[in-house]
Amino acid sequence: MVSTLKNVRPAARAAGTVDSFLESIGPGLDKGELPARIFGDAEVHATELDRVFARGWAFVGHETEIPKKGDYVLRPIGEDQFIVVRDEDGVIRVLLNNCVHRGVTLCRAEKGNTSHFRCPYHSWVYKTSGEWMGAPLRKRAYKEIDAKSWGLKAAPHVETVHGLIFASLNPDAVPLDDYLGGMRWYLDALFNLNESGLTVLGDPQRWKISANWKSAAENNIGDAYHVPSLHRSGEDIGIFPDIESGGAGGACRHLYFDEGHGMILSEGFLPEPMWHKTGFPKDIAATFQLDRLKPEQKDFLESYALTAGTIFPNLGIARVPASAYAGAPPVIFTVLRMWQPCGPDAFINWNWILGLKSAPEQYNKDAYAASLAMLGPAGVFEQDDSVVWEGLPAAGRSAFSRNRRMNINYQLGLEGMSEYEIDSKWKWPGHATTTALGEAPQRAFYRRWLRDMTTS
Ligand code: FES
Ligand SMILES: [Fe+2]
Repeated sequence: MVSTLKNVRPAARAAGTVDSFLESIGPGLDKGELPARIFGDAEVHATELDRVFARGWAFVGHETEIPKKGDYVLRPIGEDQFIVVRDEDGVIRVLLNNCVHRGVTLCRAEKGNTSHFRCPYHSWVYKTSGEWMGAPLRKRAYKEIDAKSWGLKAAPHVETVHGLIFASLNPDAVPLDDYLGGMRWYLDALFNLNESGLTVLGDPQRWKISANWKSAAENNIGDAYHVPSLHRSGEDIGIFPDIESGGAGGACRHLYFDEGHGMILSEGFLPEPMWHKTGFPKDIAATFQLDRLKPEQKDFLESYALTAGTIFPNLGIARVPASAYAGAPPVIFTVLRMWQPCGPDAFINWNWILGLKSAPEQYNKDAYAASLAMLGPAGVFEQDDSVVWEGLPAAGRSAFSRNRRMNINYQLGLEGMSEYEIDSKWKWPGHATTTALGEAPQRAFYRRWLRDMTTS
């Protein structure tokens, strides 16, 4: 497994210094300005681990990865590693992967099935629920131990939404539904297409990118403006049907939420008559049971099924078309992406490709291949994005940029700046815009980020 830890911890923070810096950001954000420093600063990053990742809700995997009792996978929340396990009662637990005897990393395999976890150091043993179960020479060595107090540290909240597993490390966290806000309505539509639902197609891929995790989050939330520019080669080599239609000038719009989540929605992406209104091929769409949804959700799906978005802070969703190779017909694929922070200037991109249980095996294989060609570790779009994001942490840690307060520009779509307005006729949850020629979702993301970062 890729090493996930860096020596940047909250204790290293110079108390007060970072807080006064963070307090100074708000007025600039209202004008579409954010200091470059927030993308390359160790103190800001350490504060994020405390106030964003240890406080909100984090995506840790999909239920189909751990279908049986005893199944487990190792997953990060912030920079900490957890065991996500289905215990012997079938309950999903999220357990810190550190033995409470001396803190040793407990589970060394990145996935598997087990009846218990045994520490390699002194062989303390824990149940899959995390409870303390025993130790060598127990009757002589631990006559008086209070077993209930010495279980593994567990995330206090774990919830699922249509197979997506979320955990919160915050005992006082709001319920997941409240955290998701209006985004929940759209997740219900996108991930509840039929009773059999979605399944992971193999393990998530992981690769490390030399950039700040927020660059991926704010890109996926709706940076349409870069698509025809940076990803032009996708059309040139024939793996993306119409690059302009995927950009800010196409039939796209933004949707964003005060909770910091957002999406880009696309209509009319694909050539008729092969495609159903949901964006899927007609034979695949025939397996959907859209009457399970509210009529308005069905209406939404049949208008804007193709989308990418971010759930604050670091979960990405994409359902878009691509071709596995030049000339192949485009296939709709669905991926979940999680941007695991590794210090301020690196993150690990986790990439789950999902298939429809109701689809023929070949369709899922084609979607898998198309997804890899576009957004996999060597995907054409992925390479484009990850290379350009590398510059920002350098600007963020530069003494020159810090002293001169170099700001990054988020002014696209501010009032009067572009053809971009709030759509007052939008019928469904969230704030929708008339085009995608703006950065309202990014500003909402950073407003949420700043709220969390300035609440101690
Ligand atoms: S450190 Fe785990 S049993 Fe001692
Ligand atoms: Fe991109």
